[in-house]
Amino acid sequence: MRGEVCVGTATVLSLVSMILMVFVHVGQINTSVVPRKISMARVNVSEYSAALQISFADPFDDIYTNNASAPLGVKAGLRQFYEFGLYSHCAYVNSSHGMCGNLTVGQQYRPYDAIASDMAANFSLITAALVSGTTFEDSHYLGQATQAAYWMLLLGTICAALALLTGILKNNLTFFVSTLFSIAGSLLLLIGVSIWTVMIKKSEGVNDITVGTQSNPWPLGIVVSTGSGLYMTWAAFVCLVVSVVPYMISCCTYRG
Ligand SMILES: *[C@@H]1O[C@H](CO)[C@@H](O)[C@H](O)[C@H]1NC(C)=O
Ligand SMILES: *[C@@H]1O[C@H](CO)[C@@H](O)[C@H](O)[C@H]1NC(C)=O
Ligand SMILES: *[C@@H]1O[C@H](CO)[C@@H](O)[C@H](O)[C@H]1NC(C)=O
Ligand SMILES: *[C@@H]1O[C@H](CO)[C@@H](O)[C@H](O)[C@H]1NC(C)=O
Repeated sequence: MRGEVCVGTATVLSLVSMILMVFVHVGQINTSVVPRKISMARVNVSEYSAALQISFADPFDDIYTNNASAPLGVKAGLRQFYEFGLYSHCAYVNSSHGMCGNLTVGQQYRPYDAIASDMAANFSLITAALVSGTTFEDSHYLGQATQAAYWMLLLGTICAALALLTGILKNNLTFFVSTLFSIAGSLLLLIGVSIWTVMIKKSEGVNDITVGTQSNPWPLGIVVSTGSGLYMTWAAFVCLVVSVVPYMISCCTYRG
């Protein structure tokens, strides 16, 4: 009976890990309720026009578009919020309405490119000058790293699923295979989620940029933050790594 409990615990943990990763994968593939709420990283640019107005004493309200169905990446106007997922990024004019880019396997996290490609040319020149020298602007670096991380997360998800499936067969050999899959999957998820965490932290450097005078600094209004998808990926990693122990015990002690 204790063996069954052990197997059951391992199965539930790897199932939870896999389900969490499936939700992470659907984040930002479209704007319906569930995918909309799941993203790896978020960029809030709703206060950006105010910062431009302060540094250039010009009204910059027309930098934004209110048209939720305007396409992305064609200088149709900046949106208020940008959310980045594993396959696409979406941009929202308010809390519920927005537009997503094309779906790409191994989508790169390129926050600067995403916002600059929505602004009119004169605004993107100003933006380039304001954020120059930050990691936020270095789309090549952020993009390459997060693309590599994507493949780790995909393989980690597959390993979690295989650990779950082989564990259901219930004999010592399949528990051994499940143990291997859960160890491999945990390592892959850990590497992938660590890379994403570091890239988000580095791009958060843009949050500290100020405009205005030295005595009266004003935040730039481009604010990067961590999305729920990153926390879900960390949780998936924890579940899978914890499942290694009961799989290993089952592998050595199961008498089925
Ligand atoms: C965006 O930033 C503004 C100002 O910092 C804040 O008031 C607002 O709640 C943020 N919105 C979201 C969706 O994070
Ligand atoms: C919003 O954008 C779409 C797509 O470009 C366009 O067809 C539509 O006419 C625009 N709506 C408004 C109110 O400008
Ligand atoms: C999305 O795909 C369409 C059709 O393949 C293409 O015309 C468009 O430029 C793409 N958009 C972006 C933002 O890459
Ligand atoms: C968001 O914007 C859309 C389109 O502009 C509009 O139809 C909708 O009512 C807005 N929603 C909120 C909560 O402001």
